[in-house]
Amino acid sequence: MTDVLEAGTAPAAQGSTQGSTQDRPQERRRDAAATWWRQAVVYQVYPRSFADADGDGLGDLAGVTARVPHLARLGVDAVWLSPFYPSQLADGGYDVDDHRAVDPRLGTLEQFDEMVAALHGAGIKVVVDIVPNHSSDQHRWFREALAAAPGSPERDRYVFARGRGEHGELPPSDWTAVFGGPAWEHVGDGEWYLHMFAPEQPDWNWANREVREDFLRTLRFWADRGVDGFRVDVAHALAKDMSLPLPTAAELAADDLPDGAHRLTDRDEVHEIYREWRELFDSYDPPRTAVAEAWVPAHRRARYASPEGLGQAFNFDLLQADPDAATFRRVVEDNLRLARESGASSTWVLSNHDVVRHATRYALPAGTDLQAWLLGGGTDPAPDRERGLRLARAATAFVLALPGSAYLYQGEELGLPEVADLPADVLQDPTWVRSAGAEKGRDGCRVPLPWSASAPALGFSTGTPHLPQPAWFAGLAADVQEADPSSTLSFYREALAVRRRLRTEEELTWVDGTGDGVVAFTRPGGWTCVTNLGDGAVELPAGRVVLASGPLDGRALPPGTTAWLTDEDAQQDERQDAQGPTGR
Ligand code: NOJ
Repeated sequence: MTDVLEAGTAPAAQGSTQGSTQDRPQERRRDAAATWWRQAVVYQVYPRSFADADGDGLGDLAGVTARVPHLARLGVDAVWLSPFYPSQLADGGYDVDDHRAVDPRLGTLEQFDEMVAALHGAGIKVVVDIVPNHSSDQHRWFREALAAAPGSPERDRYVFARGRGEHGELPPSDWTAVFGGPAWEHVGDGEWYLHMFAPEQPDWNWANREVREDFLRTLRFWADRGVDGFRVDVAHALAKDMSLPLPTAAELAADDLPDGAHRLTDRDEVHEIYREWRELFDSYDPPRTAVAEAWVPAHRRARYASPEGLGQAFNFDLLQADPDAATFRRVVEDNLRLARESGASSTWVLSNHDVVRHATRYALPAGTDLQAWLLGGGTDPAPDRERGLRLARAATAFVLALPGSAYLYQGEELGLPEVADLPADVLQDPTWVRSAGAEKGRDGCRVPLPWSASAPALGFSTGTPHLPQPAWFAGLAADVQEADPSSTLSFYREALAVRRRLRTEEELTWVDGTGDGVVAFTRPGGWTCVTNLGDGAVELPAGRVVLASGPLDGRALPPGTTAWLTDEDAQQDERQDAQGPTGR
């Protein structure tokens, strides 16, 4: 064994005996309440596609409440809800009309409170998405900005700029938006507004104090309703340097500015905003948590994750990595080091609402261009579904054994693959239209969940689902998997239950010499995780197998399989020896 890595300095969320509060139960309880997120399993609900209680074909909050038993039985610690705010759905709800309300199609504030109460009643925390980089173009303040004159306080809440050309008829710069097309939209009076995403998503001006105050109000609004934490969308982009002259797109791309001084992203002053948020979060007991979606170089992530900032930041490194032992180990080493530097715990993500599901990524040869593959309807190359699911389960078990928190995406507990052949006329993702059909977008991972094989709309809705479910989803429905101990659903439940039992300090020790293509480590308390991503079976090390992501062949770990082992038997023997032959 080599190389002990200790990530983070705070005690583990559960099961830790370290720290000075050991003999003071009240303080220990308070610490546990404040640090629950450090090793939590957080389940992402994309509300419109989770469960529809009112039969309009869109998932809703009452649907989430109705499925709390599923979440409780799964054993997750928290639920993160993607946006459920009023929205024209130009970007799946990430275009928010009103940050302090519920989309009437998804429910009411009362139903939100009922959902929170049901989740809390089941011991599940609630994290909501905050979208602070942009609003929707239907937001009251944006409509006021359009109605007001250039240079007005109303316009100052957003990023307006005078166009080039005699009458401002040309965009202020040649920048392109993330979803394709120009990043500026003309408003007819010589001014243009900036939208880094869709034109329906105007960017806020965070140099404006009113904008800052309004978001503090929003955070308080949800925290007061009992929300435990926030996922912060596009956390890297709030602060922008719009001083003239604006650079060209080529100059922006050259990226030759020092860290923290880039015009549009990851500017140092963004952390002033989060310091203010942190003060607000810490004014609650227990403090509210936050996790940043910050697309920044790894060495800049710690700032977002620091205890003076948001407290945690996503790393999407595993989500972008091939299932390869050396790569997995390197990603984990790097991220545990970064977590240690920031004082946060690591975050592990294999799937979310923005990417091709991992059961499908792993079904394709390494290096497959996923967008090209989706454009072709998901047939070339043909996915090896059996391999994809096997590796997905192995990777999930790997992630669930790591120190830090694990973020799961709805439907992965059913082993859902991507729906790659959605016809063009049902696509909703703005990427499809904005890229003029060059990118199909993210709808394939947002297809409504199959709950029940024989019910209409597979139990998702009594109406017509907003995205069509393929017929083969029936074979993966939750009720089919319920009864099958070898199903992916049973595997997730077991994995989460065993993880909860074994969860321990945020430490990891690599185990070498376990075979080619194998990555293995132990955690304090004798929990060993061995993942075989190589081509041949390998012999398992000593210990009792407490979880396997697929069938084992005696003590042989087949390719594409993870096993967890404990030395619990040895510990029990030791305990019995210490207690004497009668066990008393
Ligand atoms: C990141 C979200 O995850 C994605 O779904 C959204 O389109 C963009 N931010 C813009 O809000």
